[in-house]
Amino acid sequence: MRFRIYRYRPEEDSAPVLQDYVLTPEVLDGAVMLLDALMLLKAQDETLGFRRSCREGVCGSDAMNINGRNGLACITPLKDLREPITLRPLPGMPVIRDLVVDLSGFYRQYRAVRPWLIDEGPEPEIERPQSPAERDRLDGLYECILCACCTTSCPSFWWNPERFLGPAALLQAYRFVTDSRDKALGVRLDDLEDPYRLYRCHSIMNCTDVCPKGLDPARAISGIRALLARRRL
Ligand code: SF4
Ligand code: FES
Repeated sequence: MRFRIYRYRPEEDSAPVLQDYVLTPEVLDGAVMLLDALMLLKAQDETLGFRRSCREGVCGSDAMNINGRNGLACITPLKDLREPITLRPLPGMPVIRDLVVDLSGFYRQYRAVRPWLIDEGPEPEIERPQSPAERDRLDGLYECILCACCTTSCPSFWWNPERFLGPAALLQAYRFVTDSRDKALGVRLDDLEDPYRLYRCHSIMNCTDVCPKGLDPARAISGIRALLARRRL
């Protein structure tokens, strides 16, 4: 099986290169997922840099660009990939080394939406109850693993990474304006009503197309727009 992998160490290399690798069927030995193959390549070339942790599609750390499309290596079957399998870092992010990118900007935008419950009222004695229907409204919003596949496939984010929040952060913004236990709806909507933070989304839909968890950030962004429109009326 043939691979072409982006190699770059900014402090040493003048420019990135695509390095060719081959794994023979004997070495592959029944490897099923792309991450398995990467681990085998790492055993041959320990200088190859990539992130990984859970191997189960829940930590989000092995997000990368796989044959031109963002995804998680650990849940991408090798049999679905055409050769040479070309691996690049997530687009639009500063490269730290090879397939490892600096996600500080992504996390900064995530923190900006205050992804926690806000309720200045008295602390409840036991819990903050929710009806089953209120809880159901969070389905499709809370499962995000912050892999950044969506945000780094969004041209609007590439153009305005400082000012546009990006699909992952906006999905979380919608998660908290939807939560019946949160008491900061007005303030949250004030923060979002901005030509850049929200309205740089042009419904390109790459985010929804690539999300490895099957979430729909584009729909969440429409939901925020609808709330703002209703408030204006
Ligand atoms: Fe990843 Fe999907 Fe969350 Fe975006 S919405 S960060 S693609 S899990
Ligand atoms: Fe955790 Fe792939 S290693 S999501």
